[in-house]
Amino acid sequence: MRPAAQQPPWPDEDELERVLKQISTLPPLVFAGEARSLTSALGAVAEGRAFLLQAGDCAESFAEFSADAIRDKLKIILQMAVVLTYGAGVPVVKVGRMAGQFAKPRTSSTEIVGGVELDTFRGHMVNDDAPYAEARVPDPTRLVAAYHQSASTLNLLRAFTKGGFADLSQAHIWNQQFVASSEEGRRYEQIATEIDRALRFMEACGIDLAREQSLHQVDFYTSHEALILGYEEALTRRDSLTGDFYDCSAHMLWAGERSRQVDGAHVEFLAGIRNPLGCKIGPSTTPEEVLATCERLNPDRVPGRLTLIARMGAGRVSEALPPLLEAVRDSGHIVAWACDPMHGNTFVTNGGHKTRRFDDILGELRGFFDAHHRAGTWPGGVHVELTGDDVTECLGGFGDIVEDQLHERYTTACDPRLNARQSIDLAFRIAELLRD
Ligand code: TRP
Ligand code: MN
Repeated sequence: MRPAAQQPPWPDEDELERVLKQISTLPPLVFAGEARSLTSALGAVAEGRAFLLQAGDCAESFAEFSADAIRDKLKIILQMAVVLTYGAGVPVVKVGRMAGQFAKPRTSSTEIVGGVELDTFRGHMVNDDAPYAEARVPDPTRLVAAYHQSASTLNLLRAFTKGGFADLSQAHIWNQQFVASSEEGRRYEQIATEIDRALRFMEACGIDLAREQSLHQVDFYTSHEALILGYEEALTRRDSLTGDFYDCSAHMLWAGERSRQVDGAHVEFLAGIRNPLGCKIGPSTTPEEVLATCERLNPDRVPGRLTLIARMGAGRVSEALPPLLEAVRDSGHIVAWACDPMHGNTFVTNGGHKTRRFDDILGELRGFFDAHHRAGTWPGGVHVELTGDDVTECLGGFGDIVEDQLHERYTTACDPRLNARQSIDLAFRIAELLRD
């Protein structure tokens, strides 16, 4: 057994074993064939023919679980996808941090709340975020609850993306009221109107739009950090078609910056499954580590198998990323490169709110695109934390949220998320970077 970082201190190992055994008898959430489709879609990203949009909550919540919340998050991801597809003219691979993103790695195992030392919140599949000791005790039955919430979230996502809601003719409807009345909302409206016109044009040319499935639905995939190894193992099944093992808790799984040790248990688990994988890499990552990660997670050099998600910080991306891009390029390894412009740019305000500046997020993205331009490699995608709601968690953007406003609608269960307006704004900026 290799050492596993970031595992919760479960108080009762026997109960944990019982629960995991139960989960291992439950139906898989995704089908191995879908994971293979995502690998091939990400293969196009690795080869510079498509762009990855991976987005969703920092941490999904048991408390904020509703059809509306799922729908609104999907809306904003579809809007961003439209802006990117139309604005940059590249296919967009859509992957949610949804239907399973319930566990959080922590830097410290305790925190001080109101003068009392408490075990830290580790995500709703482990414990509760309420500020008292009992709430923070890890409870294995939460793993089962996370499975069921993932199943119903995925079910609704499938219904929406295949059942008409994601039809391009609905593009106006995804624009929520509070967005539509804003600058970036109007800019989006314009694209939706142009798409209407393009569709009518094609119809007038004699193309039977009703028969073009791709206009009426999207392939939407799910992903989360593979943190709680027992849960992921309990959902790992042998595919009856190929005989290979797949973690059927989501289409794509990633290792975090804190759990990506090449000789650690998380990487060992990920190496053994066939799903497409992500690996977060921070600014202290060395070229040797990145190459060892590629060798370990994608020894057969399958395009789309491995996405490296750089989270460097706006101030460090320009110096930290280029040596890694060059090392991978020169090694002949094939990876998709994505930019997580969120996690390297988090800080705490004097008022005690964890936040990020929209300008830093943009700054890191610019540095990411620039580094790829210079290395002659493809800036394959973005990985962002967002919500469809009108929250005040990140600073700046068109609405120019300032520090004093953060408390107004600060509802995240973990890290600060872009709100719907900031997300659409960001999509326009990324489309510009892709065009340049
Ligand atoms: N199926 C295509 C795609 O996923 C076109 C499409 C349909 C689309 N509905 C969409 C694109 C919603 C973005 C958003 O690219
Ligand atoms: Mn986060």
